[in-house]
Amino acid sequence: MSNALSLDSVVLSSDEKELVILDQTLLPNEVKFLHLTKAGDIWEAIYSLRVRGAPAIGVAAAYGIYLLSAQEETEDMARFLEAFKGHKDYLNSARPTAVNLSWALNRMEKVAQAEKGSHSVPELKKLLLAEAHAIREEDIAISRSIGRLGFELLKPGDGILTHCNAGTLATAKYGTALAPVYVALEEGWKDLRVYCDETRPLLQGARLSAFEMQTAGVDTTLICDNMASLTMRRGKIDIIFVGCDRVAANGDFANKIGTSGVAILAKHYGIPFYVCAPTSTIDMAVTCGDDIVIEERKPEEVTEMWYAKRMAPEGVKVFNPAFDVTDHDLVTGIITEKGIAYPPFDVSFRRLGIQ
Ligand code: MRU
Repeated sequence: MSNALSLDSVVLSSDEKELVILDQTLLPNEVKFLHLTKAGDIWEAIYSLRVRGAPAIGVAAAYGIYLLSAQEETEDMARFLEAFKGHKDYLNSARPTAVNLSWALNRMEKVAQAEKGSHSVPELKKLLLAEAHAIREEDIAISRSIGRLGFELLKPGDGILTHCNAGTLATAKYGTALAPVYVALEEGWKDLRVYCDETRPLLQGARLSAFEMQTAGVDTTLICDNMASLTMRRGKIDIIFVGCDRVAANGDFANKIGTSGVAILAKHYGIPFYVCAPTSTIDMAVTCGDDIVIEERKPEEVTEMWYAKRMAPEGVKVFNPAFDVTDHDLVTGIITEKGIAYPPFDVSFRRLGIQ
């Protein structure tokens, strides 16, 4: 099986006409790349988590809106910008919680608005392409910085618990929560132990993080979500790294459903709990976690998906939130590419120049 780090989760094809994503719904059993050009297919790939993880969604959206705009034949700037806005609103509706989706689309729109007066439509398309490439390249650099800072927190032999997948598959490369492990491997450390929460209902931990860590040669153990407490109690976990989809101004954050439970357990057992967050994921417009919109997904993800036959009574009510909110007072630190923010987070964010 290929090393996950060698698989590009989201790129533009070499002829710059297709969005190429690794279909993460098929992992770890099948490595298949999808070549997308149509708005509906790009939207569906984001909605169905074929491309997923906040930073990777942002990169896919940037390339997606570039491609859709590049396909517009008009040379009339006003018409072009109207079409751009339509594509932006459509892609932005695919998933609500990960701020990187709207962040990347807004960043692309900013280029269009700033340059519309001084460039023709074909020239503007080139600038949009350059911006999308920059978003991807920056994401790789950001992941490296987070990995470096996270690595400094580790000791040889540490047991690391992670939830969902915030690894290379969830970003352009390296990941956020798993980036410190990739840095440790580069430094020649061979004795870290990584515990992956299975992450019900979509199994990003079992299918993706376990795959990533195992193919990287890391000592990897998969646990069901409800096994985290015992694993901590037995002293197997020294530190916890998770990713995030949106951080509020006070340090509350949304991440994959189940994350807040891990944070509560970590506090009980006195285990440091770190959130790995590119600054693009920090949304200073949101005051606290209660203001973050939480995506709810279809019941079949809980009742049927992955099972050979349905495993819940027909007609039973299902609550299927895809994310939860962790209170800032459960967080030891937030690792950004600019440095680690410690409580009080509003002060630390300001110190790191995040506004
Ligand atoms: O629903 P998903 O799989 O997109 O959720 C992903 C997560 O919750 C990740 O932890 C988060 O996006 C950070 S990825 C670096």
